[in-house]
Order: sequence, then C-alpha cells, then structure tokens
Amino acid sequence: MKPTSRPELIDFKGIYMAHYFTDDWENVQKFQARPDDILIATYPKAGTTWVSSILDLLFFHNIAPERHTSLPIFERVPFLEAVFPEMPTGVDLADKLATTPRLIKTHLPVQLVPKSFWEQNCKVVYIARNAKDSAVSYFHFSCMVDLLPDPGTWNDFLQNFMDGKMVFGPWYDHVCGYWEKKQTYTNLHYMFFEDIVKNTRHEVEQLSSFLGLSTQAEEREKLTKFVHFDAMKQNSMANYSTFKRMDFKISPFMRKGKVGDWKNYFSVAQNEQFDAHYWEKMKNTTLQFHTEI
Ligand code: A3P
Repeated sequence: MKPTSRPELIDFKGIYMAHYFTDDWENVQKFQARPDDILIATYPKAGTTWVSSILDLLFFHNIAPERHTSLPIFERVPFLEAVFPEMPTGVDLADKLATTPRLIKTHLPVQLVPKSFWEQNCKVVYIARNAKDSAVSYFHFSCMVDLLPDPGTWNDFLQNFMDGKMVFGPWYDHVCGYWEKKQTYTNLHYMFFEDIVKNTRHEVEQLSSFLGLSTQAEEREKLTKFVHFDAMKQNSMANYSTFKRMDFKISPFMRKGKVGDWKNYFSVAQNEQFDAHYWEKMKNTTLQFHTEI
C-alpha cells in the first residue's frame, strides 16, 4: 500500500475523523432507524466484529444457519457511516438489509449517533475495551488498512491516542459518553471486551436476556464455539480476508484477541506517562476497566 493513499485526519464537528466516515454525513444523520433495529456501537478495536457475530448468530442461526459461512460480516452488519471505495455506502447497505431486526454497526461517539435511534428507543449494545489494549490493536489495524491515516511509529501513535488525535476521537470521551448515556437510556447494554474473553458463555447469556431472546443453553453453547477466536480466525466470512483494503501481510484482522497484550508494546516510560494521563482523564467517571485478567 502506498502511503499517499492514506486519508488525512480531519476535524469534524469537534472530533477527529477521516473522510471515509464523513462523506455521506447528510444521509447518516437523517438515517431512519426502526424500533427493532439494534445498534452495535464501539470505539474501534473493542470487539465489534466479535459481538456482531454473536448477535447475528443469536438472531438468525436457527432460521439461516448458512449465513455465517456464506455472507461477510460487513454485509450482515453494515457499518453505518462508512463510505468505502467500490462498495455501497453503509447507509445503503443498512437500508437494503432484509433481516428483522437489522443489526447496524457504528463507531460514532454518542453525540453523533443519528437521532432516530434514540427517538425509536432502539436497543444499543456498546462494547468497551481497556485503553491500553485498544491502543495496541488500533495501531496494528492502522498499519494494515489504508482507509485510516498513517499511524507513524508506535510512539507517535500512542501520543496521538492520548491526545485524542484518532479517527473517531478520544477513546476517553467515547467510552465515558456511552457510559453516561446508559444512566438515562435504559435500552443500552454496556459490555466489556475483557468480560467476553473471561466468560463468553456468561456474556452471551446476558446479551440474550437483554435482547429478550429465549435461547436454549445448548444453542448458546454451540454459538460460543462458533465465535471462539480460532474459529473466527479460520472463517473467511468473519476474519475480513475478503475485504480488499486490508493487508494481511502486515497484520491479520484477527490478530491476538487477548487481554494484556499491551505489555508487549508499552515501554516502562510509556506506561508511566500513560497511567498518569489516564487517571487525570478518567477521574470523574465511575467507569472501570481491567487491563489484565
Ligand atoms: P487484537 O488486535 O487485540 O487481536 P473490532 O472488531 O472492533 O475491530 O476489534 C478487533 C479486535 O477484536 C482484535 O483485537 C481482534 O483480534 C479481536 N477479536 C475479534 N474476534 C475475537 C474473538 N472471537 N475472540 C477474541 N478477540 C477477538
């Protein structure tokens, strides 16, 4: 991939973005959500694809078992604000979804989510991941996908992460914004990547109950196996190997799927600086993360 093909980081409504996520803004903002739509919202690299796969299987595996081995996840769960070359826009894909409910993915911070989702009282599933692993995963992802700005060195990237100079803005505001929303909007289920790693079965059960589904333990067991890291890594409909803008020679999409991988990348000095900055940024929230399990 040539560095010249990389988009610039732009200031968009006070949030850093890349044009691939703002080019269709008018249609994104006036997107008409339906009451039974389910919005899967995350800061990048929090396990969006993982939870998207879980939801798709929970809703549709019984009626269309071939879906998860025949349709790429990015078609089953459209990325609302995305406008990628040679692909229909996220809004078009969402509008054309034939499923009920429609599962829709977004990375938008809470204040930029199209208002119809709130007006229709749609269920929202938010997944958060600890900042350190998010930064490491986002760095590797930025290296391998040319739809994001050039990440520079790991040190540059980490500094930019702390400064909020990331596509979709600061991690800190993103995770806290949805956390605050949850205090008044009861249809928001807030999940943690670390909990899913620790006990996928339990998280699937919680999710299923939030969605009002009466799945049998046996089905959930089967589903849990389908979404195991190794199974998803092998599944070309879940591992993004059919998505042309990723260079798997640089890094696979299904990279490690671990909690605590940050320890392999943060130097002692980076960790100290990050922690001091982190506690300052997060001092006013009750939101807590685990950086190891
Ligand atoms: P790593 O880069 O740390 O491996 P997103 O889907 O939001 O882009 O998140 C991608 C991250 O979730 C990647 O993290 C990926 O490996 C991890 N992931 C995806 N599916 C997973 C699974 N089934 N089990 C564990 N981690 C998973």
